[in-house]
Amino acid sequence: VRSAFVGLRCTRCGAEFDPEPMFEGCPKCAVGEWAANLAAVYDVGLARNAWSSLVGRGVWRYTPVLPVRDPRSRTTLGEGDTPLVDVPGLGGVRWLWLKNESANPTWSYKDRMCSVAVSVAREMGARTIGVSSTGNHGASAAAYAARAGLDYVALTKDDVGDPTLAFLQIFGGLVLKTSRRGRWELLRYGVHELGWHSVSTYTSAPTGNPYGVEGYKTLAFEIVAQLGHVPNAVVVPTCYGEGLSGIWAGFQQLVELGQTDSTPRMVAAEPAGGAPLSRTLAAGLDHVVSVPAYSTVAKSIGASVANDRSLLALRASCGTSIPVTDDQILRAQQELGRRGIFGEPAGVAGVAALALLPESLSGFEPGRDEVVVILTAGGLRDHHASRERLAPVATIEATPAALLDALDKRAARPNTPSSTA
Ligand SMILES: Cc1ncc(COP(=O)(O)O)c(C=O)c1O
Ligand SMILES: [Zn+2]
Repeated sequence: VRSAFVGLRCTRCGAEFDPEPMFEGCPKCAVGEWAANLAAVYDVGLARNAWSSLVGRGVWRYTPVLPVRDPRSRTTLGEGDTPLVDVPGLGGVRWLWLKNESANPTWSYKDRMCSVAVSVAREMGARTIGVSSTGNHGASAAAYAARAGLDYVALTKDDVGDPTLAFLQIFGGLVLKTSRRGRWELLRYGVHELGWHSVSTYTSAPTGNPYGVEGYKTLAFEIVAQLGHVPNAVVVPTCYGEGLSGIWAGFQQLVELGQTDSTPRMVAAEPAGGAPLSRTLAAGLDHVVSVPAYSTVAKSIGASVANDRSLLALRASCGTSIPVTDDQILRAQQELGRRGIFGEPAGVAGVAALALLPESLSGFEPGRDEVVVILTAGGLRDHHASRERLAPVATIEATPAALLDALDKRAARPNTPSSTA
Protein backbone atom coordinates (compact mmCIF):
# COMPACT_ATOMS: atom_id res chain seq x y z
CA VAL A 1 0.00 0.00 0.00
CA ARG A 2 1.49 3.31 -1.13
CA SER A 3 1.38 6.74 0.46
CA ALA A 4 -0.70 9.31 -1.42
CA PHE A 5 1.39 12.13 0.07
CA VAL A 6 2.07 14.99 -2.33
CA GLY A 7 3.66 17.84 -0.37
CA LEU A 8 2.92 20.66 2.06
CA ARG A 9 0.42 23.52 1.85
CA CYS A 10 0.14 26.67 3.93
CA THR A 11 -2.97 26.71 6.14
CA ARG A 12 -3.25 30.46 5.56
CA CYS A 13 -2.18 31.51 2.05
CA GLY A 14 -2.39 28.10 0.35
CA ALA A 15 1.17 28.21 -1.04
CA GLU A 16 2.43 24.71 -1.83
CA PHE A 17 5.85 23.22 -1.14
CA ASP A 18 7.74 20.04 -1.99
CA PRO A 19 8.59 17.84 1.00
CA GLU A 20 11.64 19.42 2.64
CA PRO A 21 12.74 19.84 6.25
CA MET A 22 10.46 22.86 6.90
CA PHE A 23 9.99 23.61 10.59
CA GLU A 24 9.33 27.35 10.61
CA GLY A 25 5.97 27.57 8.92
CA CYS A 26 5.10 29.21 5.62
CA PRO A 27 7.89 31.46 4.31
CA LYS A 28 5.52 33.04 1.75
CA CYS A 29 3.11 34.78 4.10
CA ALA A 30 5.26 35.10 7.25
CA VAL A 31 5.16 38.48 8.95
CA GLY A 32 8.19 39.10 11.19
CA GLU A 33 8.37 36.30 13.76
CA TRP A 34 4.89 35.05 12.94
CA ALA A 35 4.37 32.30 10.38
CA ALA A 36 1.38 30.13 9.50
CA ASN A 37 1.38 26.34 9.90
CA LEU A 38 2.02 24.05 6.97
CA ALA A 39 -0.18 20.98 6.48
CA ALA A 40 0.32 17.83 4.41
CA VAL A 41 -1.53 17.37 1.12
CA TYR A 42 -2.54 14.03 -0.42
CA ASP A 43 -3.79 12.81 -3.78
CA VAL A 44 -7.43 12.24 -2.84
CA GLY A 45 -8.15 9.74 -5.63
CA LEU A 46 -5.17 7.61 -4.70
CA ALA A 47 -6.00 7.75 -1.00
CA ARG A 48 -9.65 6.83 -1.65
CA ASN A 49 -8.64 3.74 -3.60
CA ALA A 50 -6.10 2.71 -1.01
CA TRP A 51 -8.61 3.06 1.83
CA SER A 52 -10.45 -0.11 0.82
CA SER A 53 -7.28 -2.18 1.20
CA LEU A 54 -5.78 -0.93 4.46
CA VAL A 55 -3.51 -3.52 6.04
CA GLY A 56 -1.66 -3.98 9.32
CA ARG A 57 -2.35 -2.43 12.68
CA GLY A 58 -1.78 0.81 14.60
CA VAL A 59 -0.52 4.02 13.11
CA TRP A 60 0.95 2.42 9.98
CA ARG A 61 -2.32 0.86 8.95
CA TYR A 62 -3.01 4.36 7.60
CA THR A 63 0.10 4.53 5.41
CA PRO A 64 -1.85 5.95 2.41
CA VAL A 65 -2.49 9.17 4.34
CA LEU A 66 0.87 9.46 6.11
CA PRO A 67 3.74 11.51 4.64
CA VAL A 68 6.20 8.60 4.43
CA ARG A 69 6.68 7.32 0.90
CA ASP A 70 9.48 4.78 1.27
CA PRO A 71 8.40 1.79 3.42
CA ARG A 72 12.07 1.25 4.33
CA SER A 73 12.15 4.48 6.31
CA ARG A 74 9.17 3.46 8.43
CA THR A 75 10.17 3.52 12.10
CA THR A 76 7.82 1.67 14.39
CA LEU A 77 7.71 0.44 17.97
CA GLY A 78 4.10 -0.73 17.78
CA GLU A 79 2.40 2.64 18.33
CA GLY A 80 -1.35 3.16 18.04
CA ASP A 81 -4.30 0.78 18.40
CA THR A 82 -4.76 1.96 21.97
CA PRO A 83 -7.83 0.96 23.99
CA LEU A 84 -11.06 2.94 23.79
CA VAL A 85 -12.50 2.40 27.25
CA ASP A 86 -16.08 3.26 28.19
CA VAL A 87 -16.23 5.38 31.34
CA PRO A 88 -19.91 6.33 31.56
CA GLY A 89 -20.82 9.09 33.95
CA LEU A 90 -17.35 10.51 34.56
CA GLY A 91 -17.64 14.30 34.87
CA GLY A 92 -21.42 13.92 34.49
CA VAL A 93 -21.20 12.83 30.84
CA ARG A 94 -23.34 9.78 30.18
CA TRP A 95 -21.90 8.50 26.89
CA LEU A 96 -18.20 8.76 27.46
CA TRP A 97 -15.11 6.95 26.20
CA LEU A 98 -11.48 7.38 27.06
CA LYS A 99 -8.80 6.84 24.43
CA ASN A 100 -5.99 5.54 26.61
CA GLU A 101 -2.80 6.72 24.95
CA SER A 102 -0.66 5.55 27.85
CA ALA A 103 -0.75 2.19 26.06
CA ASN A 104 1.76 3.51 23.50
CA PRO A 105 5.45 2.43 23.49
CA THR A 106 6.68 5.40 25.57
CA TRP A 107 3.35 5.80 27.36
CA SER A 108 2.11 8.92 25.63
CA TYR A 109 0.32 9.99 22.47
CA LYS A 110 3.55 11.62 21.27
CA ASP A 111 4.53 8.23 19.84
CA ARG A 112 2.07 8.71 16.98
CA MET A 113 3.82 11.97 16.13
CA CYS A 114 7.42 10.87 16.67
CA SER A 115 7.03 7.59 14.79
CA VAL A 116 5.99 9.55 11.70
CA ALA A 117 8.38 12.50 12.22
CA VAL A 118 11.43 10.26 12.68
CA SER A 119 10.43 8.17 9.65
CA VAL A 120 10.32 11.33 7.55
CA ALA A 121 13.66 12.45 9.00
CA ARG A 122 15.16 9.16 7.93
CA GLU A 123 13.65 9.49 4.48
CA MET A 124 15.21 12.94 4.17
CA GLY A 125 18.62 11.58 5.13
CA ALA A 126 18.85 13.14 8.60
CA ARG A 127 21.57 11.94 10.97
CA THR A 128 20.56 13.72 14.17
CA ILE A 129 17.10 14.30 15.66
CA GLY A 130 16.74 17.53 17.64
CA VAL A 131 13.97 17.96 20.20
CA SER A 132 13.06 20.50 22.85
CA SER A 133 10.78 19.08 25.50
CA THR A 134 9.87 18.89 29.18
CA GLY A 135 9.42 15.15 28.93
CA ASN A 136 6.95 13.15 26.88
CA HIS A 137 7.79 14.56 23.50
CA GLY A 138 11.52 14.24 24.12
CA ALA A 139 11.33 10.68 25.42
CA SER A 140 9.27 9.64 22.44
CA ALA A 141 11.57 11.37 19.93
CA ALA A 142 14.57 9.75 21.61
CA ALA A 143 13.05 6.28 21.51
CA TYR A 144 12.22 6.53 17.81
CA ALA A 145 15.61 8.05 16.98
CA ALA A 146 17.25 5.07 18.67
CA ARG A 147 14.96 2.69 16.84
CA ALA A 148 15.93 4.32 13.53
CA GLY A 149 19.62 4.19 14.38
CA LEU A 150 19.87 7.99 14.50
CA ASP A 151 21.58 10.19 17.05
CA TYR A 152 19.49 12.66 19.06
CA VAL A 153 19.93 15.76 21.17
CA ALA A 154 17.17 16.46 23.70
CA LEU A 155 17.06 19.97 25.17
CA THR A 156 15.08 20.24 28.34
CA LYS A 157 14.44 22.84 31.05
CA ASP A 158 16.83 23.42 33.93
CA ASP A 159 14.20 22.45 36.53
CA VAL A 160 13.51 19.00 35.07
CA GLY A 161 14.61 16.04 37.22
CA ASP A 162 14.23 12.29 37.34
CA PRO A 163 12.51 10.14 36.25
CA THR A 164 12.18 12.37 33.17
CA LEU A 165 15.95 12.75 32.73
CA ALA A 166 16.50 9.02 32.88
CA PHE A 167 13.70 8.56 30.38
CA LEU A 168 15.34 11.05 28.01
CA GLN A 169 18.81 9.51 28.40
CA ILE A 170 18.14 5.79 28.29
CA PHE A 171 17.91 5.77 24.50
CA GLY A 172 21.55 6.77 24.18
CA GLY A 173 21.58 10.37 22.93
CA LEU A 174 22.75 13.64 24.44
CA VAL A 175 20.45 15.28 27.00
CA LEU A 176 21.03 18.88 28.08
CA LYS A 177 19.24 21.18 30.51
CA THR A 178 19.00 24.88 29.74
CA SER A 179 16.69 27.86 30.14
CA ARG A 180 13.09 27.76 29.02
CA ARG A 181 13.65 30.08 26.08
CA GLY A 182 17.21 28.93 25.44
CA ARG A 183 16.01 25.47 24.45
CA TRP A 184 14.36 26.92 21.39
CA GLU A 185 17.32 29.07 20.43
CA LEU A 186 19.69 26.12 20.63
CA LEU A 187 17.34 23.91 18.66
CA ARG A 188 17.13 26.55 15.96
CA TYR A 189 20.92 26.71 15.91
CA GLY A 190 21.11 22.92 15.64
CA VAL A 191 18.75 22.94 12.66
CA HIS A 192 20.42 25.83 10.84
CA GLU A 193 24.06 25.16 11.61
CA LEU A 194 24.39 21.49 12.53
CA GLY A 195 21.89 19.84 10.19
CA TRP A 196 19.58 18.52 12.91
CA HIS A 197 16.11 17.39 11.95
CA SER A 198 13.76 18.95 14.51
CA VAL A 199 10.71 17.00 15.60
CA SER A 200 9.41 19.68 17.96
CA THR A 201 8.70 23.39 17.81
CA TYR A 202 11.22 26.20 18.37
CA THR A 203 9.51 29.25 16.86
CA SER A 204 7.46 31.87 18.69
CA ALA A 205 4.39 31.00 16.62
CA PRO A 206 4.62 27.22 17.18
CA THR A 207 4.97 25.85 13.66
CA GLY A 208 6.73 22.62 14.63
CA ASN A 209 7.25 19.57 12.48
CA PRO A 210 4.35 19.43 10.01
CA TYR A 211 5.00 15.76 9.15
CA GLY A 212 4.77 14.49 12.69
CA VAL A 213 1.39 16.17 13.20
CA GLU A 214 0.03 13.81 10.53
CA GLY A 215 0.58 10.92 12.94
CA TYR A 216 -2.12 12.31 15.23
CA LYS A 217 -4.72 11.85 12.49
CA THR A 218 -4.67 8.16 13.29
CA LEU A 219 -6.42 8.94 16.58
CA ALA A 220 -9.45 10.11 14.60
CA PHE A 221 -9.32 7.03 12.38
CA GLU A 222 -9.09 4.65 15.33
CA ILE A 223 -11.86 6.38 17.28
CA VAL A 224 -14.29 6.03 14.36
CA ALA A 225 -13.22 2.42 13.75
CA GLN A 226 -13.57 1.47 17.43
CA LEU A 227 -16.79 3.36 18.13
CA GLY A 228 -18.35 2.52 14.77
CA HIS A 229 -19.27 6.16 14.17
CA VAL A 230 -18.22 9.78 14.77
CA PRO A 231 -18.73 11.06 18.35
CA ASN A 232 -20.26 14.48 19.06
CA ALA A 233 -17.19 15.87 20.76
CA VAL A 234 -13.51 15.02 21.24
CA VAL A 235 -11.68 16.57 24.20
CA VAL A 236 -7.89 16.94 24.00
CA PRO A 237 -5.34 18.19 26.58
CA THR A 238 -3.65 20.96 24.64
CA CYS A 239 -0.28 22.67 24.71
CA TYR A 240 0.89 23.91 21.29
CA GLY A 241 -2.20 22.38 19.71
CA GLU A 242 -0.38 19.87 17.53
CA GLY A 243 -2.41 16.92 18.74
CA LEU A 244 -5.67 18.80 18.46
CA SER A 245 -5.02 20.07 14.95
CA GLY A 246 -3.80 16.65 13.83
CA ILE A 247 -6.87 14.87 15.19
CA TRP A 248 -9.11 17.43 13.52
CA ALA A 249 -7.27 16.93 10.21
CA GLY A 250 -7.99 13.20 10.57
CA PHE A 251 -11.72 13.76 10.94
CA GLN A 252 -11.72 16.14 7.98
CA GLN A 253 -9.85 13.57 5.92
CA LEU A 254 -12.43 10.89 6.70
CA VAL A 255 -15.10 13.19 5.22
CA GLU A 256 -12.91 14.02 2.22
CA LEU A 257 -12.36 10.32 1.54
CA GLY A 258 -16.08 9.58 1.78
CA GLN A 259 -15.74 7.49 4.95
CA THR A 260 -17.95 9.63 7.20
CA ASP A 261 -20.35 12.51 6.73
CA SER A 262 -20.00 14.33 10.04
CA THR A 263 -17.24 15.67 12.25
CA PRO A 264 -17.04 16.07 16.03
CA ARG A 265 -16.75 19.32 17.94
CA MET A 266 -13.14 19.70 19.03
CA VAL A 267 -12.53 20.81 22.61
CA ALA A 268 -9.15 21.86 23.99
CA ALA A 269 -8.39 21.52 27.71
CA GLU A 270 -5.75 24.02 28.86
CA PRO A 271 -4.22 24.91 32.26
CA ALA A 272 -6.23 27.85 33.61
CA GLY A 273 -3.13 29.84 34.56
CA GLY A 274 -2.23 30.38 30.91
CA ALA A 275 -4.94 29.16 28.53
CA PRO A 276 -3.83 30.98 25.34
CA LEU A 277 -6.50 29.37 23.16
CA SER A 278 -9.30 30.14 25.61
CA ARG A 279 -8.19 33.76 25.84
CA THR A 280 -7.88 34.08 22.09
CA LEU A 281 -11.39 32.71 21.52
CA ALA A 282 -12.82 34.99 24.20
CA ALA A 283 -11.18 38.00 22.53
CA GLY A 284 -12.29 36.90 19.06
CA LEU A 285 -8.78 37.14 17.60
CA ASP A 286 -7.31 35.41 14.54
CA HIS A 287 -3.84 34.76 15.96
CA VAL A 288 -3.27 32.94 19.22
CA VAL A 289 -2.18 35.35 21.93
CA SER A 290 0.99 34.72 23.91
CA VAL A 291 0.44 34.64 27.68
CA PRO A 292 3.02 35.25 30.43
CA ALA A 293 4.82 32.20 31.87
CA TYR A 294 2.85 30.53 34.68
CA SER A 295 3.06 27.41 36.76
CA THR A 296 0.68 24.46 36.60
CA VAL A 297 0.50 20.94 37.93
CA ALA A 298 -0.01 19.89 34.30
CA LYS A 299 3.64 20.61 33.46
CA SER A 300 3.61 18.94 30.06
CA ILE A 301 1.00 21.35 28.72
CA GLY A 302 2.06 24.55 30.46
CA ALA A 303 3.02 26.54 27.36
CA SER A 304 2.44 30.23 26.76
CA VAL A 305 1.17 29.93 23.21
CA ALA A 306 -0.61 27.50 20.89
CA ASN A 307 -0.56 27.27 17.11
CA ASP A 308 -3.05 29.03 14.85
CA ARG A 309 -3.95 25.76 13.20
CA SER A 310 -5.58 24.54 16.41
CA LEU A 311 -7.50 27.80 16.66
CA LEU A 312 -8.81 27.18 13.14
CA ALA A 313 -9.79 23.64 14.21
CA LEU A 314 -11.72 24.89 17.24
CA ARG A 315 -13.64 27.43 15.13
CA ALA A 316 -14.26 25.14 12.13
CA SER A 317 -15.58 22.35 14.35
CA CYS A 318 -17.83 24.63 16.45
CA GLY A 319 -15.76 23.60 19.44
CA THR A 320 -14.20 25.50 22.29
CA SER A 321 -11.31 25.65 24.71
CA ILE A 322 -11.76 25.05 28.43
CA PRO A 323 -9.35 26.27 31.13
CA VAL A 324 -8.92 23.78 33.98
CA THR A 325 -7.40 24.47 37.40
CA ASP A 326 -4.78 22.38 39.20
CA ASP A 327 -7.41 21.29 41.68
CA GLN A 328 -9.79 20.15 38.93
CA ILE A 329 -6.96 18.25 37.26
CA LEU A 330 -5.82 16.44 40.40
CA ARG A 331 -9.40 15.54 41.28
CA ALA A 332 -9.95 14.17 37.79
CA GLN A 333 -6.77 12.14 38.16
CA GLN A 334 -8.10 10.51 41.33
CA GLU A 335 -11.53 9.84 39.85
CA LEU A 336 -9.92 8.15 36.90
CA GLY A 337 -7.64 6.17 39.20
CA ARG A 338 -10.70 4.74 40.84
CA ARG A 339 -11.74 3.39 37.48
CA GLY A 340 -8.41 1.65 36.99
CA ILE A 341 -6.53 4.20 34.91
CA PHE A 342 -3.50 6.25 36.01
CA GLY A 343 -2.92 9.34 33.90
CA GLU A 344 -0.35 12.13 34.16
CA PRO A 345 -1.84 15.47 35.33
CA ALA A 346 -1.45 16.93 31.82
CA GLY A 347 -2.87 13.73 30.38
CA VAL A 348 -6.10 13.94 32.37
CA ALA A 349 -6.78 17.65 31.71
CA GLY A 350 -9.47 16.56 29.26
CA VAL A 351 -11.20 14.55 31.98
CA ALA A 352 -11.11 17.62 34.22
CA ALA A 353 -12.80 19.64 31.46
CA LEU A 354 -15.79 17.28 31.19
CA ALA A 355 -17.74 18.75 34.07
CA LEU A 356 -17.37 22.18 32.46
CA LEU A 357 -18.68 21.12 29.04
CA PRO A 358 -22.35 22.10 29.62
CA GLU A 359 -21.40 25.69 30.50
CA SER A 360 -18.61 25.97 27.92
CA LEU A 361 -19.92 24.30 24.77
CA SER A 362 -23.22 25.81 23.61
CA GLY A 363 -25.93 23.23 23.03
CA PHE A 364 -24.00 20.43 24.71
CA GLU A 365 -26.23 17.88 26.47
CA PRO A 366 -24.38 15.72 29.05
CA GLY A 367 -27.13 13.07 28.95
CA ARG A 368 -27.27 12.82 25.16
CA ASP A 369 -24.00 13.74 23.44
CA GLU A 370 -21.25 11.18 22.91
CA VAL A 371 -17.80 12.30 24.00
CA VAL A 372 -14.34 10.83 23.53
CA VAL A 373 -11.65 12.23 25.78
CA ILE A 374 -8.00 11.63 24.97
CA LEU A 375 -5.86 10.52 27.92
CA THR A 376 -2.56 11.66 26.46
CA ALA A 377 -0.02 10.13 28.87
CA GLY A 378 0.38 7.69 31.74
CA GLY A 379 0.93 8.86 35.30
CA LEU A 380 4.27 7.41 36.36
CA ARG A 381 6.62 9.99 34.86
CA ASP A 382 5.05 12.81 36.86
CA HIS A 383 4.21 10.91 40.03
CA HIS A 384 5.26 13.67 42.44
CA ALA A 385 2.13 15.67 41.71
CA SER A 386 -0.11 12.68 42.39
CA ARG A 387 1.66 11.90 45.64
CA GLU A 388 0.53 15.23 47.12
CA ARG A 389 -3.10 14.10 47.01
CA LEU A 390 -2.53 10.61 48.33
CA ALA A 391 -2.31 9.50 51.96
CA PRO A 392 1.15 8.51 53.20
CA VAL A 393 1.60 4.75 53.06
CA ALA A 394 1.79 3.31 56.58
CA THR A 395 4.41 0.78 57.59
CA ILE A 396 2.95 -1.80 59.95
CA GLU A 397 4.16 -4.80 61.87
CA ALA A 398 3.57 -8.10 60.14
CA THR A 399 0.79 -9.16 62.49
CA PRO A 400 -2.95 -9.75 61.93
CA ALA A 401 -3.68 -7.25 64.71
CA ALA A 402 -1.80 -4.48 62.92
CA LEU A 403 -3.55 -5.35 59.69
CA LEU A 404 -7.00 -5.25 61.32
CA ASP A 405 -6.11 -1.96 62.93
CA ALA A 406 -5.16 -0.49 59.53
CA LEU A 407 -8.43 -1.75 58.01
CA ASP A 408 -10.38 -0.13 60.84
CA LYS A 409 -8.57 3.16 60.38
CA ARG A 410 -9.34 3.18 56.66
CA ALA A 411 -13.02 2.47 57.30
CA ALA A 412 -13.11 5.48 59.59
CA ARG A 413 -11.64 7.82 56.96
CA PRO A 414 -13.81 9.35 54.26
CA ASN A 415 -12.57 9.75 50.66
CA THR A 416 -10.63 6.55 50.47
CA PRO A 417 -11.06 3.99 47.69
CA SER A 418 -13.18 1.73 49.87
CA SER A 419 -15.75 4.43 50.60
CA THR A 420 -16.19 5.67 47.04
CA ALA A 421 -16.18 2.36 45.13
C1 LIG B 1 0.75 14.55 28.28
C2 LIG B 1 0.61 15.56 27.19
N1 LIG B 1 -0.62 15.87 26.78
C3 LIG B 1 -0.83 16.79 25.81
C4 LIG B 1 0.21 17.46 25.22
C5 LIG B 1 -0.19 18.47 24.21
O1 LIG B 1 0.69 18.85 23.24
P1 LIG B 1 0.24 19.52 21.88
O2 LIG B 1 -0.97 20.35 22.12
O3 LIG B 1 1.40 20.33 21.46
O4 LIG B 1 -0.04 18.40 20.95
C6 LIG B 1 1.52 17.15 25.61
C7 LIG B 1 2.71 17.76 25.00
O5 LIG B 1 3.31 18.69 25.28
C8 LIG B 1 1.72 16.18 26.63
O6 LIG B 1 2.95 15.85 27.06
ZN1 LIG C 1 1.45 31.04 3.73
